[in-house]
Amino acid sequence: MAAALYGPGGFFTGGGSGPAQHFRTSVHASPLFAGALLRLVERVDAALGHPRTFDLVDVGAGRGELLAVLRTLLPAGLAGRVRCTAVEVAPRPAGLDPAIAWRRDVPEGIVGLLVATEWLDNVPLDVADLDDHGRLRLVLVDPATGKETLGGPPDAADLFWLSRWWPRAARAEIGWPRDTAWADAVRCVRRGCALAVDYGHLRGERPALGTLTGFRAGRQVPPVPDGSCDVTAHVAIDSAAGAAGTPYEIVSQRKALKALGIDGARPPVDLARRDPMGYLRALSAAGEAAELIDPAGLGGHWWLLHRINLDEHGSMLK
Ligand SMILES: C[S@@+](CC[C@H](N)C(=O)[O-])C[C@H]1O[C@@H](n2cnc3c(N)ncnc32)[C@H](O)[C@@H]1O
Repeated sequence: MAAALYGPGGFFTGGGSGPAQHFRTSVHASPLFAGALLRLVERVDAALGHPRTFDLVDVGAGRGELLAVLRTLLPAGLAGRVRCTAVEVAPRPAGLDPAIAWRRDVPEGIVGLLVATEWLDNVPLDVADLDDHGRLRLVLVDPATGKETLGGPPDAADLFWLSRWWPRAARAEIGWPRDTAWADAVRCVRRGCALAVDYGHLRGERPALGTLTGFRAGRQVPPVPDGSCDVTAHVAIDSAAGAAGTPYEIVSQRKALKALGIDGARPPVDLARRDPMGYLRALSAAGEAAELIDPAGLGGHWWLLHRINLDEHGSMLK
């Protein structure tokens, strides 16, 4: 999975067309998503006492789409103070706003907000399955044919994670690499918040057959690790939360976005008479909002928000 996504000629690093050509994330679905994040930025900024520089760091930034939209939305009081940084293993796209810094590693000492939308599901992991004797073995996939076979047993770290976070499964996705990646990212925030948005599951509801799948050109395809498709698996979001060692809240995207002012309500019909163009714009926004909060789609994603060294202890998502 690591080689297929991030090796030479890998799906994300091979200089291809970028994630937006292959699958639709909340970032691509609507600028309303960036607008909601702006409201979160404002809450974190207030909790930090309006620092002279507010860091806004997007990890797994794709082509920088989220930061590009967010920068255009910043109100005067924030525009001069927000320092935007995209963290990405793919190269900087041509034409990106020069005010957005681009780097491969998460900067240390962040004071502000770190966001990672649909990053953790692309952090490579191993899959374990039961053999004919009921013993757990690692799943191997031939990149040439996509054929699965069983390899050796999971190691001690894998077994430790499985016993704590994905017990009694026939087939399980061993999530500790996501926990480590997330804990390392959160550790870079000196004061402020860190937010991961991703599809995932909680301990009581792990999917019996796992979630590993592939995407190419907008279609779901078999997750063959040959560099031609995205290979992704849902995130054990509670395990990632616990690994970071700071207070956190986990809510559905539907709930989070509603708390940040997105409700998907249709505009009043009499607006159509008074202001037909305004009505159409509001209707289109309502459609986009409905997609973002649809519980069977993007609204079912999880928001994992950590508070780091903030005096304020209340929820940021109410
Ligand atoms: C599914 S895309 C999400 C893009 C964007 N955040 C969005 O929501 O549309 C995941 C991105 O994470 C990037 N990525 C994966 N591992 C990374 C790492 N360790 N550091 C930086 N970027 C990484 C990939 O290159 C890819 O662009």
